[in-house]
Amino acid sequence: MCFGSNEAAAARPAPAMKNEAPALKIGSVRLDNPFILAPMAGISNWPFRRLAKEAGAGLTVSEMVSAAALSFHGKATLKLLETDPALEKPFCVQLFGKEPETLARAAEVAVSRGADLIDLNMGCPARKVIGSGHGSALLKNLAAARPILAALRRAVSVPITVKTRPAFAPGAGGTVFDLLPMLVDEGVDAVTLHPRLTSQGFGGEADWSLVERLAEVSPIPVIGSGDISSAADAVGRLRRHGAAAVMIGRGAKGRPWLFAECLALWRGESPPEATLDLRLQTADRHARLLAASVGGKAPFMLRTVLMWYARGLRGSSEFRARLCREDDLEIQLELLAECVERHRREEGETAASRVKIC
Ligand SMILES: Cc1cc2nc3c(=O)[nH]c(=O)nc-3n(C[C@H](O)[C@H](O)[C@H](O)COP(=O)(O)O)c2cc1C
Repeated sequence: MCFGSNEAAAARPAPAMKNEAPALKIGSVRLDNPFILAPMAGISNWPFRRLAKEAGAGLTVSEMVSAAALSFHGKATLKLLETDPALEKPFCVQLFGKEPETLARAAEVAVSRGADLIDLNMGCPARKVIGSGHGSALLKNLAAARPILAALRRAVSVPITVKTRPAFAPGAGGTVFDLLPMLVDEGVDAVTLHPRLTSQGFGGEADWSLVERLAEVSPIPVIGSGDISSAADAVGRLRRHGAAAVMIGRGAKGRPWLFAECLALWRGESPPEATLDLRLQTADRHARLLAASVGGKAPFMLRTVLMWYARGLRGSSEFRARLCREDDLEIQLELLAECVERHRREEGETAASRVKIC
């Protein structure tokens, strides 16, 4: 399958080093900056989004939410919409589903609960999701996508966006380039591309030349998502590939301050230093925000979350083993503090500023 070439990129003049980008608007919603926290199921909950927002993210997106469950006001599903409109603006809720009217009802619920934008998931590769015709399965069946988009457009007046992949698999159904005219016809306000085929899952490298090709032909803003692990990556991708904005997912796990680094670099300032103390303070705050949000379930979730903050530290595998045996938040935080202190003793203040995406 041929999506285009890199020739246009090669011909483009060298990008300016100062921020000359005009303010980004998605429909009626203005973003302060083009760095967006990606939707990540099981990760992009309110505590995590709040930390990203505090670090300066221009937009935060919820985990994907089942439209069917939301239209029935399911308690666990409503929890995914937890936010504080005074702190999280603009806030985008991502929905997945396949029935136009169900998606329309769910979008109304999401807007009534604070969503400033609605995103339709057309990119999820999970077997359970595509097996029931949701997520990326819609890419294989573009005809089914049109009534969904039309129903969403009729149901809510907030901007609508779509997050998708370049195609499902080579030769399977439509491509994002086939989808684009439909998005424009149906009044969609922006499209996010995670440039890996659905069949690739998260394997291989994201092919940003596809983001660039899409941005060249798209009359609506194109947002690129994939493999950004540092501020230099984020600003570089933004400048080189003509995207209106970039999304950061896995790279922000345990490093919500990445958004502050992106902002500084984008403005031509020196990024703030990500010290070991900043790690500890942020982990502590993350733990307490999580406890306030989910109560007694927090220590279980922290077994994963605190590991993010130990990435790249000496002794982190020993820390992991001990962390998984603890179900007291204070002890979990003490273990992290010990791990950081050991790293400081053995390695000094240095901690990898670029982490491996996982
Ligand atoms: C654990 C996990 C959960 C994800 N959940 C969602 C989701 O709910 N909706 C969605 O559109 N993309 C989801 N994604 C994809 C991300 O939004 C993003 O497009 C992808 O991870 C590539 O960006 P990254 O390399 O910055 O992580 C998920 C990715 C991961 C790793």
